[in-house]
Amino acid sequence: MRQSLRSSPTFWLTAFLAVTSSASPIFSGSDVAQLVEDLEELPATLKDIYVSGSSHPAKNETRRCKVYPGDLEWPSDEAWEKLNELTDSRLLTKPEPKASVCYNGPSYDAEKCAGLAPIWSRSYTHMHDPIEMMSPVAQGMTCLPPNVFDSGNCTRGGFPMYVINATEPKHVQLGVNFARNTGVRLVVKNTGHDFLGKSGGKDALSIWTHYFKSIEYIEDFVDEKLGYSGPAFKAGVGVQAFEIYKAAREKGRTVVGGEGETVGIFGGYIQGGGHSPLSSLYGTGADQVLSFEVVTAAGDFVTANSSSYPDLFWALRGGGGSTFGVATAVTVKAHPDMPTTAARFSFTSEKIGNETFWAGIRSYVDYFIPNADAGTYAYFTLIPNVWTGIFTFNMSPFFAPGKTLEETEALLQPWLTRLSDLGINVDPNITHWDNFHDAWRSSFPLETVQKVNATTGSRMFPRANFETEEKREELYRNLRQSSENNRVQVHFNIKTVDPDNADNAVNSAWRPMILFAQQAVRWPVNATAVEKLRIRREFQEGDMQRWRDISPGAGSYLAEADRLEPNFGQAFWGDKYPRLLELKAKWDPQDVFFATTSVGSERWKVETPDGLPNENGKLCRVQSAPS
Ligand SMILES: Cc1cc2nc3c(=O)[nH]c(=O)nc-3n(C[C@H](O)[C@H](O)[C@H](O)COP(=O)(O)OP(=O)(O)OC[C@H]3O[C@@H](n4cnc5c(N)ncnc54)[C@H](O)[C@@H]3O)c2cc1C
Ligand SMILES: *[C@@H]1O[C@H](CO)[C@@H](O)[C@H](O)[C@H]1NC(C)=O
Ligand SMILES: *[C@@H]1O[C@H](CO)[C@@H](O)[C@H](O)[C@H]1NC(C)=O
Ligand SMILES: *[C@@H]1O[C@H](CO)[C@@H](O)[C@H](O)[C@H]1NC(C)=O
Ligand SMILES: *[C@@H]1O[C@H](CO)[C@@H](O)[C@H](O)[C@H]1NC(C)=O
Ligand SMILES: *[C@@H]1O[C@H](CO)[C@@H](O)[C@H](O)[C@H]1NC(C)=O
Ligand SMILES: *[C@@H]1O[C@H](CO)[C@@H](O)[C@H](O)[C@H]1NC(C)=O
Ligand SMILES: *[C@@H]1O[C@H](CO)[C@@H](O)[C@H](O)[C@H]1NC(C)=O
Ligand SMILES: *[C@@H]1O[C@H](CO)[C@@H](O)[C@H](O)[C@H]1NC(C)=O
Repeated sequence: MRQSLRSSPTFWLTAFLAVTSSASPIFSGSDVAQLVEDLEELPATLKDIYVSGSSHPAKNETRRCKVYPGDLEWPSDEAWEKLNELTDSRLLTKPEPKASVCYNGPSYDAEKCAGLAPIWSRSYTHMHDPIEMMSPVAQGMTCLPPNVFDSGNCTRGGFPMYVINATEPKHVQLGVNFARNTGVRLVVKNTGHDFLGKSGGKDALSIWTHYFKSIEYIEDFVDEKLGYSGPAFKAGVGVQAFEIYKAAREKGRTVVGGEGETVGIFGGYIQGGGHSPLSSLYGTGADQVLSFEVVTAAGDFVTANSSSYPDLFWALRGGGGSTFGVATAVTVKAHPDMPTTAARFSFTSEKIGNETFWAGIRSYVDYFIPNADAGTYAYFTLIPNVWTGIFTFNMSPFFAPGKTLEETEALLQPWLTRLSDLGINVDPNITHWDNFHDAWRSSFPLETVQKVNATTGSRMFPRANFETEEKREELYRNLRQSSENNRVQVHFNIKTVDPDNADNAVNSAWRPMILFAQQAVRWPVNATAVEKLRIRREFQEGDMQRWRDISPGAGSYLAEADRLEPNFGQAFWGDKYPRLLELKAKWDPQDVFFATTSVGSERWKVETPDGLPNENGKLCRVQSAPS
């Protein structure tokens, strides 16, 4: 049956079926046999709709924007209904933003609205939602609970219009094919944690990967080419940090994942690099990958590993999400579980004064290299308070995987002694656990999300910034200047060298890194669009540029960064960028996939009505795509 369908060159069929090059395998598996049967029964009316409504197979490359409602080519309701049928009724149509209960309209519910405000900044509130993302600034601020931010009324803004709640590769293939053949904008959403809001897109079709939740333990995974023989986990791409760490603990293992409790480990995190409480020992998240199962832009479901499509395998490990394909499962190395010690403490400038406070911070900078080299991950914040003039330092936590209590105390002692000599008395809570999972769970904060008036920029400061007294002084002065300019800083003293030296697309700037530094700029909640843009640009030209100036050639982390990061190709990928552009042209020549600041994204721009960088606008070309 498949044969006869493939040999009939029926035009409308190609709207759903994979376009396969001779080098690519055709669909495999029973899902696909079923899909082919379903397509055979498509009504003739739908066929006509496809013929007139899409530009397949010779896509009109001159179309300036993706296809939007109101365009002649926008798929009919019937076409969307058929997509729903083919995806086992998993297509959600116009899902309402969560805060729609707060605004006039059919969903209005005062009680539900009142319940939202207190939990709005928790990631758990949003992570099961088909469209919500953790950054409303990137969405366009069009529907928030009024107690958090008054949106005036509730519109979908930068949220997608249709969502496939995918649970099988077939659902993903159908979404990719539909978008490619109709020209509708495609987005991929997992948890929505990305700082830049890369899981959103106005009036797009979204493939929602959250419910790919399987976890399989493989006792002995062997890949001779990668030089790996050992335990592994094969996880669905919807698996989150708290889930994989728990599963690993049950097998006496750990895996490299984020510190953030609810981050999706096998989606944007792992494709974008990914730092971890275990990175100083094992490198980035992407360095752990042994294999991907992935749906390509052509709609093929393939394995990308060291021998099967090795170039795609290379690009997916660090090249960034929503660029080369939609992964459905990822196999990663598993490491032995280990006892872990963590310390938490804080101090403020309130009683000791500014100069003593900053002398304490300055003395800490001297220990960044030895602490990262010792395999630790220190997560600390520097918070200014513009009203009181008080600065706060929070170590939350100093995380020492594989270390005993005594070893951890010994590592911290030199700095704590200097603090005490300065008259800064801290009272560290140093706790030891016999396993990684419990240490992680008890030590890291659940970070707040949904900030309405802030954006974060980041820099990967290399070892060179810490090797001499002069350099450490310069770095310290620049952190202090940011605090004095009222920037909230979040830092990770960390090393991300892969001990196995994997050849992948991870930004080369990760390798010499000793400090992963973030700073956030804030603006008055009621600022106009023009003011916001001015503040954000000044931040890039000021505080961020100072950080870039003292770390020439270093980079920024693509998943924890600012949409306005200049020269993002260099910043997010360094010397890997030219090859990534070539692979983008090879694997997604039509730009089916797009995410802002992703590889090749400079060809496109979201045109927002107020000129702010967010998803609330049409995605249009800024120059003609390469032929
Ligand atoms: C509270 C918080 C804590 C964090 N902690 C850490 C941390 O400890 N370490 C760290 O490195 N980062 C951390 N991050 C950043 C995090 O890694 C990024 O937000 C990352 O993009 C999250 O990936 P996701 O798939 O969960 O998110 P999403 O925002 O849903 O997706 C991110 C990007 O990946 C794409 N994508 C998702 N799944 C797939 C897929 N299967 N195939 C193709 N593309 C896909 C999306 O289209 C999007 O472009 C944190 C972020 C937050 C908000
Ligand atoms: C291609 O798109 C352009 C611009 O939207 C339009 O003018 C033209 O008619 C289209 N051509 C075809 C063959 O659809
Ligand atoms: C509400 O939304 C409508 C439709 O998008 C828009 O025209 C109007 O200006 C909005 N009102 C407010 C108060 O934002
Ligand atoms: C998405 O699918 C999952 C798994 O079938 C289901 O549990 C969940 O309720 C669905 N979510 C929505 C919003 O449809
Ligand atoms: C890589 O994928 C191919 C195709 O699925 C498979 O035959 C091969 O065994 C895989 N390699 C490893 C090391 O698993
Ligand atoms: C400390 O510095 C801050 C910011 O520069 C300033 O507002 C504050 O007044 C200073 N505090 C003291 C006690 O000097
Ligand atoms: C120290 O931290 C541990 C782990 O988070 C916690 O259980 C304990 O109560 C803390 N001790 C004190 C004195 O705060
Ligand atoms: C940012 O918004 C928060 C409320 O969400 C508010 O408390 C804070 O003062 C605002 N910051 C500025 C600089 O306006
Ligand atoms: C924002 O609010 C502040 C304080 O209420 C006010 O002084 C300022 O004029 C407002 N700005 C705008 C643009 O409305």
